[in-house]
Amino acid sequence: MLSQIRGSVVNLNNSIEDAIGPERQNCHQTYDGLLASSSPSRALHLGSGRDRAEKCSQLPDESDVVAFDIDREGLSRNDTGPKVQGDAVTLPFEDESFDLVFTEMVFEHLTQPWDVLAEIDRILTPGGSLLILVPNPLHYYAILSDLTPFWFHELWLRMNGHDSTDIDAFPTEYEWGRLSELLTTANTFDWSIAKLRTFPGPTGYTRLLPFHAAFVLLDRFLARFKQFHVSYIVMYQK
Ligand SMILES: C[S@@+](CC[C@H](N)C(=O)[O-])C[C@H]1O[C@@H](n2cnc3c(N)ncnc32)[C@H](O)[C@@H]1O
Repeated sequence: MLSQIRGSVVNLNNSIEDAIGPERQNCHQTYDGLLASSSPSRALHLGSGRDRAEKCSQLPDESDVVAFDIDREGLSRNDTGPKVQGDAVTLPFEDESFDLVFTEMVFEHLTQPWDVLAEIDRILTPGGSLLILVPNPLHYYAILSDLTPFWFHELWLRMNGHDSTDIDAFPTEYEWGRLSELLTTANTFDWSIAKLRTFPGPTGYTRLLPFHAAFVLLDRFLARFKQFHVSYIVMYQK
């Protein structure tokens, strides 16, 4: 009964979003497209978890991909290839040993993102690429998430229909990911920006609410300000 009501509300909100929401593209499809167009010889999937969205399948079979994550449980469920457990602030790899590092929905969880970026700079080959999908800390969704306790995030995911085996909830920090920081990063490490894509909201997380339309309208307004979009994809080249 509860799931039927939830389904009806979500369907209605989806229709409202299609009708009045900002024009937008799916950030995961864009990210997958960028991965699919790369052909690294050795790639690091940083913060891979269990590779729930099967990002590795976008890369050519010839590419060697190493999955890296701090979470043993997530890695144990990842069967994409060699796996290394550790903290990204000290990557246990040799200098200039990867020609691609890709990472999605990880930087918002890092307490020391600049140290991680410096580590990535160390392990990338000259000319190598870093592909990042990150939510924007300045979008209202991230601000609301920052203001609410972690137990509430887990509860919200459950209310959105995720069961306990499906929950990939990790505490968020939002220490990096503003549009201005994406640009500063290129200057700091002397990287060029090969691609930069921005995505207006809303997120799916408010689709359960009867007043989701209010968020849709807000995001339609915010769509004209890229610094307030919900997420970014950036591809740097070293
Ligand atoms: C929201 S999950 C994203 C997982 C995967 N990229 C995906 O999109 O399905 C965030 C991941 O970042 C990992 N993570 C967080 N802090 C980390 C750190 N300091 N070093 C390595 N991995 C970290 C978590 O363990 C988790 O697997």
